[in-house]
Amino acid sequence: MTSTYTASAQRYSNSEKLYNRCGKSGVMLPKVSLGMWHNFGGNDPYERSREITHYAFDHGITHFDLANNYGPPYGTAELTMGKLMEQDFGRYRDELFISTKAGYDMWEGPYGNWGSRKYLIASLDQSLRRMKLEYVDLFYSHRFDPQTPLEETLQTLVDIVRAGKALYVGISNWPLEPLEFAEDYLQNHDVPLLIYQGRLNMIDRKPLEEGILDFCKQKGIGFIAYSPLAQGLLTDRYLNGIPADSRMAQEKFLRSSRLTPEMLSYIRRLKDEGVAAGRTTAQQALGWILEQTGVTSVLVGASSVAQLADNLSVIQG
Ligand SMILES: NC(=O)c1ccc[n+]([C@@H]2O[C@H](COP(=O)([O-])OP(=O)(O)OC[C@H]3O[C@@H](n4cnc5c(N)ncnc54)[C@H](OP(=O)(O)O)[C@@H]3O)[C@@H](O)[C@H]2O)c1
Repeated sequence: MTSTYTASAQRYSNSEKLYNRCGKSGVMLPKVSLGMWHNFGGNDPYERSREITHYAFDHGITHFDLANNYGPPYGTAELTMGKLMEQDFGRYRDELFISTKAGYDMWEGPYGNWGSRKYLIASLDQSLRRMKLEYVDLFYSHRFDPQTPLEETLQTLVDIVRAGKALYVGISNWPLEPLEFAEDYLQNHDVPLLIYQGRLNMIDRKPLEEGILDFCKQKGIGFIAYSPLAQGLLTDRYLNGIPADSRMAQEKFLRSSRLTPEMLSYIRRLKDEGVAAGRTTAQQALGWILEQTGVTSVLVGASSVAQLADNLSVIQG
């Protein structure tokens, strides 16, 4: 496949503002990272996905976040990433920090879900094949599995690193108590927990309220906030109705029932505060998260270059 892409020579020109250290590790992550849950699947226009990732990398966004079942259909966001690696990003592999996850339903039968060794190893092998990668930078347990012994899941993460299939491991969506166990287990097996991925935004503050962010801070674990714009609610996207091409119009992950009069006045207030501060609504929402101590990065989604540019300007200042 021939590439017409050459990354911008200016991509690191704003480095001192762009990156945060991830906990107490050696890894720097961009304060704004790009997530591929939506908009990068098999039903999305590949050229648009490609443009968005180019814009990201050209502006120093080195971290792309995936999971086995991102799409739709499942697996296709990773296939898009594989195509991009082949076409454009192959020669920049060492400048990229690519994560994937397993933990939710991926394939049929008893071995395609949750936290067993059988599932995690098979899933990561599939992810590597789809993304055309020899290793991922970061592999996550995507959710807590109350049925599988924690030691089984955690030892699998250790073994995945030992096998060279991932450089670091992360935990996503686990409650505090098993997270404490995980931190201790991984530390004792010389594979320190790099990062916790949790949903944090102005209207969903669970990781703050439940002590997860505090625990990460105390232990030197990075924290990356997913759905930082509450899937688009905390932007101007829904101020004048529900656009036909929006996530809410699909009525799946973001339902129109969320758009109550109270929510609309909350968003309008956020917008007004933004105008007074010279920032857009999205920048206000992202800025609030980045001000929380212990937060390494906000993991945004975007369906256009314009959205990503808006989000990125929260750190360009
Ligand atoms: N670990 C987990 O369990 C988990 C769960 C969820 C997400 N994640 C990760 O977090 C990433 C981000 O999640 P998310 O997509 O929910 O994040 P988000 O940034 O809260 O929402 C992204 C959506 O908001 C809209 N948007 C973004 N920027 C905008 C702007 N400046 N102005 C107007 N609208 C804007 C777009 O909606 P439209 O598409 O409608 O244009 C976009 O698709 C995912 O891709 C994934 O990597 C992880």
